[in-house]
Amino acid sequence: MNKAQRKRIIDRHSDSLKRYGYHPNALYWSNKNIQEIRFAVLTEISVASGDSVLDVGCGFADLKLWFEAQNIEVDYTGIDISPDLIEVAKKNHQDTSLFVGELHDGQFKARSFDWILLSGALNEPYQDKGKYTKKIIKEMYRLCRKGVAFNLLNANAVKAFDLQSFQPNEILEFCQTLSPECKLRTDYLDNDFSIYMFKP
Ligand SMILES: C[S@@+](CC[C@H](N)C(=O)[O-])C[C@H]1O[C@@H](n2cnc3c(N)ncnc32)[C@H](O)[C@@H]1O
Repeated sequence: MNKAQRKRIIDRHSDSLKRYGYHPNALYWSNKNIQEIRFAVLTEISVASGDSVLDVGCGFADLKLWFEAQNIEVDYTGIDISPDLIEVAKKNHQDTSLFVGELHDGQFKARSFDWILLSGALNEPYQDKGKYTKKIIKEMYRLCRKGVAFNLLNANAVKAFDLQSFQPNEILEFCQTLSPECKLRTDYLDNDFSIYMFKP
């Protein structure tokens, strides 16, 4: 992503945080239920206690709370491009590894995680025919030991100038060029789809 796109995302979340405070609306989720349906679908890839998880575009790190509520004890790390959101996340979750930046800024060059999850962090309009999104998917898959689960907006339901959406099967086909075992989920919200990619 270029500097202007990065600034736009940071500024948008800075403004929404001022407006809504610690609330799903500050993340552009319409409500907590919608946020948690996405968490549930992603973690059904089979994240279990004892696993390490990297949450890309973690926002307030609410996924960590969700794991705790399910009694799934994971070694959680989060990264988000917004310094303002990470500041709140750090207050809410002391002693948790939380980073500001993009996935390939270099923080994780020498690390790997069992699972890498991403919810809602690839909905910004990059106007690049999916190039940035595919780069992130590729990097998540490279860094995981067990697998990757992410969601995107479904182009069959969402067409907006300020959001990025995709045809589910096109993304699935791309993922299948990287992983021998992929699964597409379109069974939970009309606007959204999720993909699981497993490491052999
Ligand atoms: C819709 S919110 C979802 C936050 C969190 N995943 C959740 O569901 O609670 C999207 C988040 O992704 C972050 N984000 C957007 N693009 C990103 C990128 N390229 N790299 C890292 N974070 C990004 C935003 O700052 C925002 O916190």
